[in-house]
Amino acid sequence: MMNQFQKQLKQLEDKGRLRCLSSESGVDLTSNDYLGFRNHPKLRDAALSAIESGIDLGSGGSRLLRGNHPAHEDLEEFAASFFGYERSLYFATGFQANYALFTTLSTRHDVVLYDSLIHASVKDGIHAGHAKGVKVAHNDLNAYEDALKRFRDEAQQIFIAVESLYSMDGDFAPLPELYELAQKYDATLIVDEAHATGVWGEGGKGCAESLPRNLITLHTCGKALGVAGGLVCASGDIIDTLINTARPFIYSTAPPPLQAVLVKEALRLVQSEEGKERRERLHIICNNVKLQMGGEGSQIVPIILGEDEHAVFVASALQKADFDIRAIRPPTVPEGSARLRLSLNADLEKETLDQFFAHLTPYLQDKAA
Ligand SMILES: Cc1ncc(COP(=O)(O)O)c(C=O)c1O
Repeated sequence: MMNQFQKQLKQLEDKGRLRCLSSESGVDLTSNDYLGFRNHPKLRDAALSAIESGIDLGSGGSRLLRGNHPAHEDLEEFAASFFGYERSLYFATGFQANYALFTTLSTRHDVVLYDSLIHASVKDGIHAGHAKGVKVAHNDLNAYEDALKRFRDEAQQIFIAVESLYSMDGDFAPLPELYELAQKYDATLIVDEAHATGVWGEGGKGCAESLPRNLITLHTCGKALGVAGGLVCASGDIIDTLINTARPFIYSTAPPPLQAVLVKEALRLVQSEEGKERRERLHIICNNVKLQMGGEGSQIVPIILGEDEHAVFVASALQKADFDIRAIRPPTVPEGSARLRLSLNADLEKETLDQFFAHLTPYLQDKAA
């Protein structure tokens, strides 16, 4: 007799959806370490010097109890000024930050319009919160406007939740137009900049960088910044509301102060000449891949293969050829759109990508046949 867990695992296995953990090996075409900061000597030096100067290794409690350290506040001040906001608040993960935002800021009198491809952390936050969540067709401005018109009278506040660069499709949101719509209907735009931070926008400040600051942005710190955590940037009122009422912030141990030191160093690196060069190098790689594969020219290139088994089969063939690329399957992406998620980084050489495409092409032709 199989227990409930065994049955569930067997069902996943039968569908070709059983996930398991594997270590990194082969050419990195899968991580979100877009700028190669994760092993950068400057981050290592910052860690060593913080340890030598006796930084606490753990925070020891929630930020509102004994877990608040100067390193957290120092990072938050630096990040607010870097991204151009009144204040910022640092969470242990981006998931926690999104969950906090969407369970805290909206009430049962409010509506949250969210893009159909938005990240699970936003969806889960909306689901656990009290506001009405309304899914809107991906990047469809008419659909956003229709929804704004429909809910403007009934809702006290309307929030619009989008990613600036979508994590599994690699396309950009039409942010200036969404911002205009938010203004027109007195809504608040919340932009998850997870995959844009460090890479896109003037100075790597994200795609929303050129918009006025009456919006909320989330900058995850475990992707291009190479460390971990999530920074919410917003007005002082919003940050104080999160500090006072966001349960994931209040009832959770603060991230290690060392982590905050490293994130600040990563932001400095984004700001530096080297950061600019790495960003420019990545943009060139993105353009070259766009010429070959089409798409929007971001560092995330979806190679849609359709059936789960086919995606897993192609990923495993490429892994055998020493390319670390993974199959992404439902529920992370919609049914029938299992894919390889090619993730580009600033250290990739043209020859390596040429070899990768040479290995990939026969599988694409197989599919076309
Ligand atoms: C768009 C988006 N938002 C939020 C997150 C969560 O961030 P973190 O990995 O820091 O928890 C991710 C991570 O995959 C993401 O892709």
